[in-house]
Amino acid sequence: MKITFEKQGDIRILPVFADELPDEISEDTREWLTKSGNFTGKLGETYADIAPGSTNLILVGLGKRNKFDYDALRTMAYKALEIVDRLNIEQANFIVPEMNELADLNALRAIFEGALQNNYKFDKYKTEDKDKEKPDLSLCMEAQWIDGKEAVLEEMENIMEGVSLARDLINEPANVLTPDKLAQIAKEKLEPLGVKVTVYDEKEIEQLGMKAFLSVAKGSSNPPRFIKMEYLPEGDDKEAIVLVGKGLTFDSGGYSLKPTKSMVEMKTDMSGSASVIGALYALAKNKGEQNVVGLVAACENLISGFAYKPGDIVESMAGLTIEVDNTDAEGRITLADALYYAATEVNSKSIVDVATLTGACIVALGHVYSGAVTNNEGLYIELKNASEATGENIWMLPSHDIFREQLKGEFGDVKNVTERGAGTITAGLFLERFVEDKPWVHLDIAGTSYLKKAEGYLPKGATGVMVKTFYEFAK
Ligand code: BES
Ligand code: ZN
Ligand code: ZN
Repeated sequence: MKITFEKQGDIRILPVFADELPDEISEDTREWLTKSGNFTGKLGETYADIAPGSTNLILVGLGKRNKFDYDALRTMAYKALEIVDRLNIEQANFIVPEMNELADLNALRAIFEGALQNNYKFDKYKTEDKDKEKPDLSLCMEAQWIDGKEAVLEEMENIMEGVSLARDLINEPANVLTPDKLAQIAKEKLEPLGVKVTVYDEKEIEQLGMKAFLSVAKGSSNPPRFIKMEYLPEGDDKEAIVLVGKGLTFDSGGYSLKPTKSMVEMKTDMSGSASVIGALYALAKNKGEQNVVGLVAACENLISGFAYKPGDIVESMAGLTIEVDNTDAEGRITLADALYYAATEVNSKSIVDVATLTGACIVALGHVYSGAVTNNEGLYIELKNASEATGENIWMLPSHDIFREQLKGEFGDVKNVTERGAGTITAGLFLERFVEDKPWVHLDIAGTSYLKKAEGYLPKGATGVMVKTFYEFAK
């Protein structure tokens, strides 16, 4: 889809609030639409009148005026472009109505995003039943009355490229996306944008002292990689926001093996790393002014004669010993070293980690909210504000000292699982032990990173969640 600001053909897409059908439509048609229930302006509802000699209008519902927000705009624009696509339309004009609710640039951003969300698909492995090639749509955004729209469009296109990059990485199967491949793609995509990407191999990871990370990695024949991505527009003497992403390119559970049904989606266990890479892409491409460093400890959690075992006690870069009660709680073990590295080896002012860490988070918050655990509520609020602006929901879970006590090891310093519920919180508080009291937020995206069914403007499969929030947060 090519978005411009010049008129494209005769078809017009008109957003309409619920029960406020516009005068462009004859009274008879209005009456018929309302009576038949074919179009009342419900959020995302569409009605196309585009046969030759017709009004050439496509109506799209904005929902109720009193429920109107940026997310409604994203959904509305997404649904409008969905029907344009379905009808094989090649040219259309999207009318941004002149009203107060739509007068700010954030509203325009949301509309652009909703439209652009239609561009994503992951069908590279389909050799049959591929969607037939569609004409490339030329879309005019009619918003002459809004200044600064060109810059907003360019910014949003770059952000959505970052989101698509994250989705592609997550949707890519684990036989293709190994830890080394993930590192290569990070290099390929980020270096041309001025991000310095350093990739450490097993030997170098060992030299860094990341024994916890390596203990998870050693069960696989695909070697681990530690990926450091530095975007430092303020110069390397200024502090950076550090984003740390869980990078399990596959999680079988190890000897605490997952059942088949839960294992099949575990190619997505590197979603956190994909969000970090996608966010750095969007920031660098938009020439963000803030220092941001991304870190990923990438590996696979498999079974072999070299794999770690339940009951093992492993060392960590921080010096703390970890009792491995369950090899399926591997993400936190890899993150322990990555977080300690963020706190001690990077000039970091704050650390945010993002991980598909616990099934418990899906139980608590479904596929709608990402869970947060923090040692700094001020930092959490900043992140929460960014997430609200982008339509990605996060919710903070309480971190009582009782949960911290439950992590005490029997023979080692800290154990990797507890047995008394609150699995998302205890996982987060395990991580807290490795951040050296730096301001830190942990985001559990186990439920939000991947959808079995498309939902609103989000596609089936990888969502790329947190790319937008991180972009907004850093900006
Ligand atoms: N990668 C999983 C968490 C997960 C579950 C992500 C479902 C996406 C969807 C993680 O490594 C894991 O297996 N966690 C265990 C922890 C448990 C052993 C304490 C879990 O949630 O069952
Ligand atoms: Zn696991
Ligand atoms: Zn995992």
